[in-house]
Amino acid sequence: MSAEQYDLLFKLLLIGDSGVGKSCLLVRFADDSFSESFISTIGVDFKIRTMKHGNRNIKLQIWDTAGQERFRTITSSYYRGAHGIMIVYDTTDLESFENVKSWLREIGRFANANVSKLLVGNKADLESERAVDTAMAQAFADEHGMKLLETSAKTAQNVEEAFLAMAREIE
Ligand code: GTP
Ligand code: MG
Repeated sequence: MSAEQYDLLFKLLLIGDSGVGKSCLLVRFADDSFSESFISTIGVDFKIRTMKHGNRNIKLQIWDTAGQERFRTITSSYYRGAHGIMIVYDTTDLESFENVKSWLREIGRFANANVSKLLVGNKADLESERAVDTAMAQAFADEHGMKLLETSAKTAQNVEEAFLAMAREIE
C-alpha cells in the first residue's frame, strides 16, 4: 500500500504549556524516537502518520504548536481546522496542569464547537517527581467531558494509545 492511500484524514492539534513535551510526543509517535534536549518550538510544526483503525487507513496530520506565549496569535489560527485537540500538561509540573483551564478557554474561542478533546499528562516516567495526582486530573477530565491518558514520550508509555484514543473520539 502506498503512503498516499487512506480512507480518512484527521487533523489533530497539540497544545499546552512550553516544555510539557508536545514535540516529544509527536516525535515518539511519528518517528519512534526521543531526545532529552529541549528545542522549543517556534510557531507551528507538523508531522504525518498513517495508522490502521479497524479495516480503515487513517491519515493523521498532526500540528504541533509552540507553548510560548509570544506565538499565541499564530498558534490560535490553527485551532479552527482541527478535528481533535490534545491538551498536554506535565505530570511533574502543577502549574502546567492548572493552565489547562486557560487552554480550554482558547479552544472555546478559536476551535470548532464540536471539536474532540483529549487530556494528556506527560512525563509519567518521572514518578518520583510527580506533582499532579492522577485522581485529581481524572476528576477534572470527567468534569470537562474529556478522556485522560498519562503518557511518557521517553518510554513510549501510552503514546500510541493517546493518538488512537483521539482518532476514536473523532469518528
Ligand atoms: P514548546 O515547543 O516550547 O511548547 O515545548 P514542548 O511542549 O514541545 O516540549 P518538548 O517536547 O520540546 O520537551 C521539553 C523537554 O521535556 C525536553 O527536554 C524533553 O526531553 C523533555 N521530555 C518530553 N517528554 C518527556 C517525557 O515523557 N519524559 C521525560 N522524562 N522527559 C520528557
Ligand atoms: Mg515543542
